[in-house]
Amino acid sequence: MLKAKIAVLVSGGGTNLQALIDAQGKVLNSGEITLVISNKEGAFALTRAANAGIKTAVVKKADGNFEERIAALIDENNIDFIILAGFMSILTEKFTNRYANRIINVHPSLIPSFCGEGYYGLRVHKEALAYGVKVTGATVHFVNEIPDGGEIIFQKAVEILDDDTPETLQKRVMEQAEWIILPLAAEKVANSIVRSREND
Ligand code: GAR
Repeated sequence: MLKAKIAVLVSGGGTNLQALIDAQGKVLNSGEITLVISNKEGAFALTRAANAGIKTAVVKKADGNFEERIAALIDENNIDFIILAGFMSILTEKFTNRYANRIINVHPSLIPSFCGEGYYGLRVHKEALAYGVKVTGATVHFVNEIPDGGEIIFQKAVEILDDDTPETLQKRVMEQAEWIILPLAAEKVANSIVRSREND
């Protein structure tokens, strides 16, 4: 079986990237991470990729032609689909249309709560605690032109505890939801790409 080639886009620590790397050959069988692109130089996610022997690239918005340069790397490397794993830049409609149904994202809440433009990272958990919800979680969804608005693939709920801080909540949501459903969603999409190829 020819595995689906996956590019992971990152900006920071890359714990979700690590969960995907660790899932390869286990939960993630139909796809293989062949490229990691960061929009931030020095992101620890790049070290995680290098340690796993995965090709890396840095594409910074400030250098111009941001999406064109990402798309060139995606196409040159024959990438089948893209995973946004802590990628903190919103992609335009031009980019999301070019890779329609070929981009997925992990978001640290139960969409449609605490999502959309401006809701990223710790801010999501701060807002959940400020609202006083008792359950939150994570969502993996397809990416379209609406921030956090594409079709949902998987969600997993996580309990909020009375003494939670944004940091403790973020950690629990990662451990109990994100790191589990992101590899599962990656496998689901990779598997459907491999199957559709076999039926061609
Ligand atoms: C994760 O919690 C991810 O869900 C979130 O940023 C964190 C990145 O951590 N993404 C967003 O908020 C996107 N809207 P990581 O770099 O350790 O994977």
